[in-house]
Amino acid sequence: MKLQGSYRNSVLVIVLIAFAICITSCSSAGANNQAEKTKLALTPPMGWNSWNVFQADIDEKTIKQTADAMVDSGMRDAGYTYLVLDDGWLAGKRDSEGNLTADPNKFPGGMKAIGDYIHSKGLKFGIYEDRGRMTCQQLPGSFKHEQADMTTFASWGVDYIKMDSCFAESNGRLSTEDYTIYRNCITKTGRPIVLSISDFGNGAWAWGGKDMAQLWRTSGDIYPWMGSVYHCAETSSGDRSIHPAFNGLWQFAGPGHWNDPDMLQVGNLKRGNDIQNKAHFSLWCILAAPLMAGNDLRTMSDEVRDILTAPEVIKVNQDPRGIQGYKVYDNGDHEIYNKPLQDGTTAVLLLNKGPKPADITVTWDKIGLSGSQKVRDLWARKDLGRYKDSYTAGNLPQHGLMLIKVGSTGHPLPAPEPVPDDKYMVTKTGLTYLSDLYYIWKKGNVPVSDKNYNSNPITIDGVKHKKGLGCRGNCRIMYKLNNKAERFKAVVGLDDSYDGDGTGRFRAYNEDFFGNRVLFDSGKMNKDSAPKNIDIDVREVNCLLLVFEGDKVFGNWADAHATWPIK
Ligand code: GAL
Repeated sequence: MKLQGSYRNSVLVIVLIAFAICITSCSSAGANNQAEKTKLALTPPMGWNSWNVFQADIDEKTIKQTADAMVDSGMRDAGYTYLVLDDGWLAGKRDSEGNLTADPNKFPGGMKAIGDYIHSKGLKFGIYEDRGRMTCQQLPGSFKHEQADMTTFASWGVDYIKMDSCFAESNGRLSTEDYTIYRNCITKTGRPIVLSISDFGNGAWAWGGKDMAQLWRTSGDIYPWMGSVYHCAETSSGDRSIHPAFNGLWQFAGPGHWNDPDMLQVGNLKRGNDIQNKAHFSLWCILAAPLMAGNDLRTMSDEVRDILTAPEVIKVNQDPRGIQGYKVYDNGDHEIYNKPLQDGTTAVLLLNKGPKPADITVTWDKIGLSGSQKVRDLWARKDLGRYKDSYTAGNLPQHGLMLIKVGSTGHPLPAPEPVPDDKYMVTKTGLTYLSDLYYIWKKGNVPVSDKNYNSNPITIDGVKHKKGLGCRGNCRIMYKLNNKAERFKAVVGLDDSYDGDGTGRFRAYNEDFFGNRVLFDSGKMNKDSAPKNIDIDVREVNCLLLVFEGDKVFGNWADAHATWPIK
């Protein structure tokens, strides 16, 4: 049927008006959030945080002296902008009106005054809180005070919030739910505030931390020794927290959203010396990690200051292209990382973690180059000349390294290919076996795919299963169902080959542990327990966390699969 001219015009006008109203008033908090969020932390945040050196022992004097030292030492001018007060600033109780308030003995002038002082130094003000009912130091948390607390922070001039997760298991909210609340509350304040998720590395890259925050932890706490430094780095660059096929978490980072392997221990390393400090700092720089110094800036040595402020090393970290460096070689002791830069060159880190001195060679084919290339030493700030086909860093002692820039300015070099969605998410209709997907987060032992833990066929109660996940001991593993599955099905039980007296328990969670949304719980099972069938609704599940707990016990998630109805 044809519409008459004037009638058609009025319909058009109504549609246009409705559309305009929709754009102005229906624009969801989500869209606003996104717009507001994306402007911040376009390069990894840089600053200082009180925790690593002072723990909860902070006060007005120390913080003001630190602000002064950030300026006097040249840290601020080198890019360290945020001065963050970690746990320990709060009074033990909220005030009579329920507002957060600073510990009156430590901060007699209150937090607004501290913020003003920090701002007067040309720095930005960061603060710590916790999404549970208490902080890790058992001071008042923000649970059930979310908007009031974010409004308080905004009124104090806060520019950066580190939101921790102690005691958050009892909130009854998924991490995505919790952090979306904070994102909305922050947006409502109208103040641009960076949100740093501190969830001990429980998979924010997997469940969508990117939509809520500018950075998320990939690890537990860092400690001042190299084992811990390397462990934290590996949560972001290796297979400590994700399937090895990803080659680290680089594909989840970029401008406005960063993997955070925790704050710097440069200057605190117990048997600290330049070589360790440089290895730590170089790793954080090549990994595009947030650079939050954690040492006492008032007393740091010139050597430590020179490391933290090394201009060409920092430039690698702050490169606007925002590619997280990734490994191109790792033999267990020797590692090579590559980080293609905006200007067409690429930064390469050659690092010897092993006990013996070594030569490490990067060949140009590993970093997308060929022929004769310019090489510059970024620590020494010196051109090393042209090198054909490769460069060798000679005689590197343990923790020794070279950080070089290779190539000439021009077209940016290609970034590596990310792992395609269908390799790690449910994307297709029908049936997807979880053992055919790459897991997106793990802690503890990794299950064996389609075999029991001894690489024999999965067998429960005399029945052999071709597919499934074979666990031993504690296996926690997350798969991305991507809200594209209707049901999750499996048969669980201890493997017939297990003859001990131990017990094992199988639980499936929606997302991580924080929401405590247990979708299935087998209870303790022993070798005589009959297998249990799982057939649960997972339509609301983006990430499915499978947890097997047992001491050296062999437990199987046999036939574990997700189904998505065929239309
Ligand atoms: C931990 C957090 C540390 C520090 C500490 C404060 O949970 O990972 O970085 O903030 O709490 O109590």
